[in-house]
Amino acid sequence: MNKKLDALKQKQEEAVLGGGQSRIDSQHKKGKLTARERLHFLMDEGSFQEIGMLVAHRSTDFGMEKEKYPGDGVVTGYGTINSRLVYVFSQDFTVFGGSLSETHAEKICKIMELAMKNGAPVIGLNDSGGARIQEGVVSLGGYADIFYRNTMASGVVPQISAVMGPCAGGAVYSPAITDFILMVEHTSYMFVTGPNVVKTVTHEIVTSEELGGATTHATKSGVTHFACANEIEAIQHIKKLLSYMPQNCEEKAPAIAYESAVELRPKLNTILPENNLQPYDMRDVISEVIDEGSFLEVHKDFAENIVVGFARLAGRSIGIVANQPAFLAGVLDINSSTKGARFIRFCDSFNIPLLVFEDVPGFLPGTDQEWNAIITNGAKLLYAFCEATVPRITVITRKAYGGAYDVMNSKHIGADMNYAWPSAEIAVMGAKGAAEIIFKREINSAADPEAKWKEMEQLYSDTFANPYRAAERGFIDEVIEPAETRSKLIRAFKMLENKVVNLPRKKHGNIPL
Ligand code: HXC
Repeated sequence: MNKKLDALKQKQEEAVLGGGQSRIDSQHKKGKLTARERLHFLMDEGSFQEIGMLVAHRSTDFGMEKEKYPGDGVVTGYGTINSRLVYVFSQDFTVFGGSLSETHAEKICKIMELAMKNGAPVIGLNDSGGARIQEGVVSLGGYADIFYRNTMASGVVPQISAVMGPCAGGAVYSPAITDFILMVEHTSYMFVTGPNVVKTVTHEIVTSEELGGATTHATKSGVTHFACANEIEAIQHIKKLLSYMPQNCEEKAPAIAYESAVELRPKLNTILPENNLQPYDMRDVISEVIDEGSFLEVHKDFAENIVVGFARLAGRSIGIVANQPAFLAGVLDINSSTKGARFIRFCDSFNIPLLVFEDVPGFLPGTDQEWNAIITNGAKLLYAFCEATVPRITVITRKAYGGAYDVMNSKHIGADMNYAWPSAEIAVMGAKGAAEIIFKREINSAADPEAKWKEMEQLYSDTFANPYRAAERGFIDEVIEPAETRSKLIRAFKMLENKVVNLPRKKHGNIPL
């Protein structure tokens, strides 16, 4: 028996050593952790249970049968994070560059299937040179097997992808289907075609970092939701992100014990600038309303005219979608619409109530927006709100103009409660533009057209630039003193706690993609 135990120990040691010490050293030299070190920092101490440690590849071409590593370039298994079950895979770059073979893919598929059957999140730590070149089409098939399972698991269990090294070619599509992507500055990149192909085809000269590094995807493309300074920061972010989510679509997110206290926030009464054309930072409003320090902003540096993220209100997890007057006056455009829509759909999939702060002058005009399909993309945001069945509340702080009033979680599209601050202006458009159109004749025929325009602007403003017309109709449930916002929201979300809405029977909707 001792001999057999020794043999087992030896195999386990081989697996832990991955592609060998020199390759581990080379990984460290690049500023990267190994697959197992990452798991050590991610999982609760002693909780990780490995599955498939001794799996080896089946390839025989190019002398591959002589070079086998137990585990085959990916560590898979389950364990806990903050005492909650998760399934995880961590690609091992020291074994054939973490490249994906048939068996490597099978290991990942196995834990994804377990995760779906048992209703727990899947976390992927990606660090791979892509399809195992020596295996040809079977490795491509392996990727497709993963993409299929990513899609099947979408909306069933949360899926989080951390990209901690290369992620190129079709391999990018697994993270892209998952719910959240985190990248690490300077050591990770994602692109469909790398700099060499780009140079050959378009003659552009670009580095990997410029083309698909963390900053690029956090600011320009929006592919990544988080750009982290290093791997440890990325791992901390994964843990934090999970804390706002339920285990699966049948459950609610865990709540933190909360004792009610003084919920009035007088600072909110003076948070808006006197002049309604002046910007302010909606994050200041958010942080006054939510539980202190609980905001986890998602997509922070992308489409900054909308702010989205998770927070807690009286200990309960909520998703926040807010126009940001400090950036492009909070206007809705293509990127902010898709950013908002994707976040709303995540929250709705996983029973996280939605809170909207609205201050929006409308949609961004211009050929760039129209030719790039603001119509289709703006419709995504509208569709996502219409379809969401979680508790939904809006607070209009200032402008709610035009179509954007409808889109930003109005009562007409299924919001449960709409509150307005007295500073709210709910109208088809701004008073100046409106007066110019509807009082054109009076203005043109006046002795002093400029003065007449001002007078008409004031008239329009007095009539519509307030929340009371909407409140008379019941489109606004209550005009509230800003200081009361937090307490109103706590009560309303509590009232909506058991909300049930059944959508019409269908196979699935057809969101305008
Ligand atoms: C087999 C691979 C490999 C791969 C790297 N290696 N990628 N082995 N298949 N795809 C091996 C290398 O031979 C090397 O082995 C070790 O991993 C480390 O690689 P290095 O090149 O030394 O590392 P580095 O300099 O850091 O460069 C990393 C890299 C580069 C940029 C990822 O290895 C690279 O360009 N690899 C090929 C990438 C690629 O074209 N993949 C296929 C993409 S198409 P030794 O023994 O020397 O340590 C694709 C399609 C997916 O993935 C389709 C899904 C639908």
